[in-house]
Amino acid sequence: MRGWMGKFRSLFLFGTLALILSGCGKDNLSALKPKGYSSELILDLMLISIAIMIFVFVIVMAIYAFVLVRYRQKKDDEDIIPKQVEGNKALEVIWTVIPIILLLVLAVPTVQATFDLADRSTQDDDGVLTVEVTGNQYWWHFNYKGEEISSSQELYIPTGERVYLDMKASDVLHSFWLPSIAGKMDTLPGENINTMYLEAYEEGVYWGHCTELCGPSHSLMDFRVVAVSQDEFEQLKEDFRNIDPEAKPETDSAVEGQKTFNNKCMSCHAIGNAPMGVGPNLSNFANRERIAGILEPTKENLVSWITNPDEHKPGNKMPANLVDEQQAEEIADYLLQLDHTDVGEDAPTQSEE
Ligand code: CUA
Repeated sequence: MRGWMGKFRSLFLFGTLALILSGCGKDNLSALKPKGYSSELILDLMLISIAIMIFVFVIVMAIYAFVLVRYRQKKDDEDIIPKQVEGNKALEVIWTVIPIILLLVLAVPTVQATFDLADRSTQDDDGVLTVEVTGNQYWWHFNYKGEEISSSQELYIPTGERVYLDMKASDVLHSFWLPSIAGKMDTLPGENINTMYLEAYEEGVYWGHCTELCGPSHSLMDFRVVAVSQDEFEQLKEDFRNIDPEAKPETDSAVEGQKTFNNKCMSCHAIGNAPMGVGPNLSNFANRERIAGILEPTKENLVSWITNPDEHKPGNKMPANLVDEQQAEEIADYLLQLDHTDVGEDAPTQSEE
């Protein structure tokens, strides 16, 4: 009896927890609140299949309840064998044809959506942007094809138009998941390029995650997609092209930081347009929502990250203790003034929800 009660209690606890936790989704990290073309298409498919499932469930349960009540054995007819209906043609036809119809209702929009999501027909049109996405342990790099600009961790896109992604990985399998705008696509090491497109309806900052187990810091491999108006995007491209990695910062500390940075960090990182390095491109660092994709953008966090990155993202490639505490503070002062655009600053940010 106790065992049964115990089981019931834990079931009740898990059930309640599941209900509570299901309310914890984030607005900009939810497939249920689509803000883009692909995510809307995918949500429609989910709703169709859920509707079909509910329909089947209700009908089956109704028949089950009816049979339970109507055909239960009564006191007087214990010895009576009821009418046997196996091989009944009408019944066989009904329960074969209905599932076929339901599968067709499910299959037609699914196949349509599959082709729609793989469509690349406008990729070569004038003014259409293609971004090369590379997954790395544990950061993302974005190279804007033909634009001579690149960014890491945060991808900037214009709203209201398709942006095509050509995706690969530099080391191991990763997966690019951006639920509120699009879906999910694996990035593979080697020659295989996977593709998808983004079309954001609204300006905003959208969260993405890596969703392929890729090492100890897989769960920390976050990125952001910043959708801005088309005018702002043109301005942003201009601003990015004008970034001067040698520009002198205003404070002495930042000037020292720049020297140390150029000496010790530039072999892996870059500021301004550059081919992808061993570490992320830090252009526009001060505009980023997060340090290393995960930490609140405070100086304290940045110094802690620079001096001991492994504590925050185990297994990442940035060496610890490359610089001392004071140098780390100066580098932080330098990086936190790398504010080359005002793009995205007044876009609605939902990250704190
Ligand atoms: Cu990259 Cu998980």
